[in-house]
Amino acid sequence: MSEPEKIRVMIVDDIVDTRDQLEKLLFFEKDIEVIAKASNGREAVALAKQHRPDVILMDINMPDMDGIAATEAIMSQDPSVQVIIMSVQGETDYLRRAMLAGAREFLTKPISADDLYKSIRHVHKLSAARPRTVATSGGEVVAGAVGGGTEGLIIAVFGPKGGVGSSTVAANLAVAIRQQTNKKVALVDGNVIFGDLTVILNLRSDKTIIELATRADEIDGDLLNDVLATHTSQVKVLLAPPDPQRGELVTSDHLRTILEALRREYDYVVVDTPASFQDRSLAVLDMAHRIVTLMTLEMHTIRNITRFLEVADLLEYPQEKVMLVLNKASNRTGIKAEEVEKTLQRKVQFQIGDAGQDMTFSINQGVPLVIAKPTHQIARDINTLARELMGSAKTTTAAQPATATAAATEKSGGLFSRLLPKR
Ligand SMILES: Nc1ncnc2c1ncn2[C@@H]1O[C@H](COP(=O)(O)OP(=O)(O)OP(=O)(O)O)[C@@H](O)[C@H]1O
Ligand SMILES: [Mg+2]
Repeated sequence: MSEPEKIRVMIVDDIVDTRDQLEKLLFFEKDIEVIAKASNGREAVALAKQHRPDVILMDINMPDMDGIAATEAIMSQDPSVQVIIMSVQGETDYLRRAMLAGAREFLTKPISADDLYKSIRHVHKLSAARPRTVATSGGEVVAGAVGGGTEGLIIAVFGPKGGVGSSTVAANLAVAIRQQTNKKVALVDGNVIFGDLTVILNLRSDKTIIELATRADEIDGDLLNDVLATHTSQVKVLLAPPDPQRGELVTSDHLRTILEALRREYDYVVVDTPASFQDRSLAVLDMAHRIVTLMTLEMHTIRNITRFLEVADLLEYPQEKVMLVLNKASNRTGIKAEEVEKTLQRKVQFQIGDAGQDMTFSINQGVPLVIAKPTHQIARDINTLARELMGSAKTTTAAQPATATAAATEKSGGLFSRLLPKR
């Protein structure tokens, strides 16, 4: 039987003792092999090109070219490489910038052997879930094993009750998908009246969904590219207008046309969907391949979830389309997830923990938790959710998505007029 392939690691640090120490720590790990060592960023970029490591342990502060610039350069060469940043305490601003440059994990010096092994294996596992990408001689990056030609996956993030975390989860999820796959990801603020993504992502642009709604007949890749704002994670974001009055101009038909165009251009389209059963929300829910249906352990939310699940049945959404996700999961609410499952007669398929003030802080900073604190348990939860959704995407072609044309034949006029003939 052939031996499993080892994780090929490169160590980058300007201090020779640190390099040697890390190499010694890794020497006895059977599944890890140190294949190169560099003493500054510039050398790291050259050696990464030559040796194509799976994982890079990267110091931040180095002469010549620092760890952030090196990470950026290496990621543009090979986005599938996994960079673990090593820093001393108190370098939080650097860390944030490193994460934006594409680093996946960080370790604080002095680094324990256990943390080192765990992080290397963790990031390597992340990369195993996606195709290896290669830089061509022209510098552009091509995907190794992507099918090509298929349409993107539309993921609606929806809470039948407001305030359950749709906008927060949608923003973090889109970034997580981008970080894991390096594919084209669009994030849409479906809350055209009171959009929140501009604040959550600290993004400003004078181009919003209004530009697409008013030019609905002309939407193509170029127009989308021009209107969507680019987040530092490279997620493209379709923002809502700043004033509610203009948001009213966007109709459910506009949304269908926009989503149809987006899924032709992007691999993943994540939509922050408003908590209502009005036409606009229904248009998004109809079009979605997956509805991440968020609930919290509060009685009024659970009541609305029950109603939504009934509606989803009446609208004949396939079971696998509606993914029930518990957000802000905690055992201090007086209600247990198992009790809710019994009441709903439905499995809670995924749980995102309660980040408490850390989530508030990340919103106030305008940096999603998956970037600001990638090792935070809740950032990990959202990364796992992203993986589950991408895994389930493989079966998606079989599970019929509602197309714009099919959905457009449904009557407008809200849920009432949609369901009346079905009763
Ligand atoms: N997993 C989490 N842990 C802790 N707090 C969270 C979590 N998810 C969301 N929150 C918090 O819940 C609050 C509501 O979040 P958010 O605005 O994303 O909800 P929403 O469903 O989009 O609300 P709205 O109906 O107003 O659009 C925010 O204060 C956010 O910080
Ligand atoms: Mg919201």
